[in-house]
Amino acid sequence: MDEIRVWKWMKKEEENKVFLCQTLLHHYSPSIDKDVLLLTASIEGIKYEFQEKLLGGAALDATGVPLPEDTLSVAKQSDAVLLGAIGGYKWDKNEKHLKPETGLLQLRAGLKVFANLRPATVFPQLVDASTLKREVAEGVDLMVVRELTGGIYFGKPRGFGTNENGEETGYNTEIYAAHEIDRIARFAFEVARKRRGKLCSVDKANMLEASMFWRKRVLAFAQEYPDVELSHMYVDNAAMQLIRNPKQFDTIVTNNIFGDILSDEASMITGSIGMLPSASLGDSGPGLFEPIHGSAPDIAGQDKANPFATVLSAAMLLRYGLGEDKAAERIEKAVMDTLNRGFRTADIYSSGTKLVGCKQLGEEILKSVESPVPAGAV
Ligand SMILES: NC(=O)c1ccc[n+]([C@@H]2O[C@H](COP(=O)([O-])OP(=O)(O)OC[C@H]3O[C@@H](n4cnc5c(N)ncnc54)[C@H](O)[C@@H]3O)[C@@H](O)[C@H]2O)c1
Repeated sequence: MDEIRVWKWMKKEEENKVFLCQTLLHHYSPSIDKDVLLLTASIEGIKYEFQEKLLGGAALDATGVPLPEDTLSVAKQSDAVLLGAIGGYKWDKNEKHLKPETGLLQLRAGLKVFANLRPATVFPQLVDASTLKREVAEGVDLMVVRELTGGIYFGKPRGFGTNENGEETGYNTEIYAAHEIDRIARFAFEVARKRRGKLCSVDKANMLEASMFWRKRVLAFAQEYPDVELSHMYVDNAAMQLIRNPKQFDTIVTNNIFGDILSDEASMITGSIGMLPSASLGDSGPGLFEPIHGSAPDIAGQDKANPFATVLSAAMLLRYGLGEDKAAERIEKAVMDTLNRGFRTADIYSSGTKLVGCKQLGEEILKSVESPVPAGAV
């Protein structure tokens, strides 16, 4: 079920491009991310080749570890890495170091991708799929910039212990070094500058020392970016404001755990977690591109998964990973075109649209990649 592909791209100038791609074959059959990329590349004249590698559950089953050395080494040599999602019930009870999720964290750390970009855009065609009222959801277009390789998910000490009363405990450490905050702050200011010039830094500086430090470091960059309007918000308020008035946000920068939670919350404004791609980038080396959703094991094998997030991740890969803007645009337009033609999976269905399964939606996206199909043709 859990599978990964390694792709070698040879651009027009025969430069080798390699990326990893984990697709959920139980959802996407034929694998839509692969097919969309292959078709787009052939139309846009980008040459490629690929091979397959393992990560997550499939790697555990085959090799006993969630991130085989070979996989990491190929990923590091690549120009971009595309993932589907890892995880599943089968491995849920594994010890931490033997969980599929550990492989993903190791891959992110190994590639040193510290900045995670998670756009939450409400497509005009999907306003009614949002759980929020039309007037609240319409026009939302925000970007969450999440710190990805630090904070409580990686901080030490961590573990299980016993307290002074002899009672069992579990503990983690929220810790950020100055350079970790500085590089994500700079990254977020740059993103905000290219968008609508508004940056909201989310923390819990009224309670947590790590957040007080975060706020101090972020604030120090304000002078360098006078064209960006910087604000600060506590995470509990941000969670509320995202539902109350999401249009107030342009770019949000926050730590690893707050970003994890807020970006999932933001996804619901857009109608479904199945619509949202993400890009994780470092200073150099390949970027990692993946939908923000997990492996959705509750609907595995039912042909219900929404493939748009995966397809849009492929577009982000082309744009931010390989600098192939035209090819990325072709995919983004194909998504719009497929939506315009009324096709929806169950998670984004509303009355008057056409309910289809994952497989058929994938086929419709491919048609739109090849040539936009006039709305009247279906
Ligand atoms: N980056 C990753 O690979 C990643 C991220 C999150 C969770 N996970 C793993 O995935 C497994 C399931 O986790 P979870 O249930 O918390 O999160 P999930 O994102 O897999 O699912 C949450 C809910 O959203 C739905 N959903 C998710 N993607 C969808 C799609 N494309 N179309 C329609 N509905 C979709 C699911 O059916 C489920 O009801 C776990 O093993 C978890 O660790 C992996």
